[in-house]
Amino acid sequence: MTEHKIPLAGVIGNPIAHSKSPHLFRHWLKTYNRPGFYVPMHVAEGDLESVIRSLPKMGFVGCNVTLPHKVDVLQIADLATDRATLIGAANTLIFRRDGKIHADNTDGYGFIANLKQGAPGWAPSIGPAAVLGAGGAARAVIASLIDVGVQEIFLSNRTRPKAEALQSAFGTKVTVVDWVQAGNILEDSATVVNTTSLGMTGQPELRVPLDGLRRGTVVTDLVYSPLKTRFLQEAEAAGCVTVDGLGMLLHQAVPGFERWFGTRPEVDVDARAAVLG
Ligand code: ATR
Repeated sequence: MTEHKIPLAGVIGNPIAHSKSPHLFRHWLKTYNRPGFYVPMHVAEGDLESVIRSLPKMGFVGCNVTLPHKVDVLQIADLATDRATLIGAANTLIFRRDGKIHADNTDGYGFIANLKQGAPGWAPSIGPAAVLGAGGAARAVIASLIDVGVQEIFLSNRTRPKAEALQSAFGTKVTVVDWVQAGNILEDSATVVNTTSLGMTGQPELRVPLDGLRRGTVVTDLVYSPLKTRFLQEAEAAGCVTVDGLGMLLHQAVPGFERWFGTRPEVDVDARAAVLG
């Protein structure tokens, strides 16, 4: 492969115009005075493989991948990390010097890093976790919780079979609870995670009775628009420690930036401000 002095990276998705990653990467490039470019790329499903295969030839060192391509890129990659294989999706591609495409998934890493930063006392040993929702995001969250050592996870989803499918994938540490009973699991949980799209601007609110929550429970929402969802507001009013979802978006980008541009960037107020615009 040709040696390029200025690293190129970017993010592939469809749509892509709304992506916050270019703002974040450009902020970090400027902050750390690194040479490099990071570009948004709108790629239709049918073009995914040809675009990915052409990027290394154009001097790209890697790219992030967002919806709807996160599952499909795993088939295109030559190698995948264990965590990407376990989650069944990738959000980071590394174009290696030997020509191989290496897929990774840093969503779970970003989730845990955000939890630790937002709730400094948080540790896997604090007790069971409740996960609401059973889509792709829940898969990454559950994989990362198990990976760091959480022993018990209650999982509740409106469509119960999707939660059961996740339970089959992750094993006995996961217990499925009916969606209508989601409120019941909260009193036994030390960590509560909303992975559903409920509460996002334009979506209905997540309505789970929070009266059973213990004070000090760590409650986090993957929704970051709005930053403080009603769910988080209610949890805060109930005495919980709340962590918004923006940090997960920022932390999941850290490994890619470090790999491509050679500096490990900080997730701080300036990085948050850069993506909030
Ligand atoms: P992601 O990849 O971000 O997790 P997804 O795979 O579309 O997105 O999953 C969305 C999650 O939000 C699912 O758990 C979904 O529940 P269903 O599996 O029952 O569809 C949940 N969700 C979306 N709208 C919902 C609603 N109105 N009530 C309850 N759950 C909802």
